[in-house]
Amino acid sequence: MNSLKEKQLAAEKAVDFIEDGMIIGLGTGSTVSFMIKKLAERIKSRLRITAVSTSTNTTKLAISLGIKVFNIDEVKEIDLTIDGADEVDENFNGIKGGGGALLFEKIVASVSKKNVWIVDSSKLVKTLGKFPLPVEIVQYGAEHTFSELKKRELNPIFRTTNNKKFVTDGNHYLIDLNPGPIENPVKLNRELNEIPGVVETGLFCNVVDVVVAGIGESVKIIEQKKERSNLSQI
Ligand code: 5RP
Repeated sequence: MNSLKEKQLAAEKAVDFIEDGMIIGLGTGSTVSFMIKKLAERIKSRLRITAVSTSTNTTKLAISLGIKVFNIDEVKEIDLTIDGADEVDENFNGIKGGGGALLFEKIVASVSKKNVWIVDSSKLVKTLGKFPLPVEIVQYGAEHTFSELKKRELNPIFRTTNNKKFVTDGNHYLIDLNPGPIENPVKLNRELNEIPGVVETGLFCNVVDVVVAGIGESVKIIEQKKERSNLSQI
């Protein structure tokens, strides 16, 4: 089973979490695209939702499929956000931002009552850090912010597209870090956010409630419980 099929399985299963009348946060990425396509089918069969998007790409896809997208400031809070992730560890910490939308994704997640991540099996890891950790920074003084990250031996690389620095929907640059295994994501997230010029990091700690993972031919729903985590195979 390839990862694309696992992504599709997880994405389509996650649509079952959506109830009539909900305000839904739409994440970003290839896995989310499968989810949006399934959601569009349900809307055609009379499911009513209000959608908020985390990126220009997601907005474009949603609108092309007939889903009306509202500005985040038009809603008070979001009932449920379904998003992808690049890595998820055993403590429900994650790396996001492979698709460059981490800042808006974090804002949307922070005003969501429930956050569901949809992933293929390769994203489930013991310790974060194999996938490059994106950090969104302001353009002003970007080389100095980069030097600071280099001084801390985080192996920074500016993300580029067509030989130009990648610019996010928030009009910032992205730097991908390779810090090695991240034993304490909460601490690293705090330290990075204290560097002047850093807007946000792709470390999402204490954010996700449910991980829906495509594993081979099946889907595993892994729920974060207050006291302990619970694994259930369906
Ligand atoms: C975008 C993200 C994506 O959700 C993440 O990169 C996963 O992408 P994909 O579903 O394409 O593997 O965080 O900023």
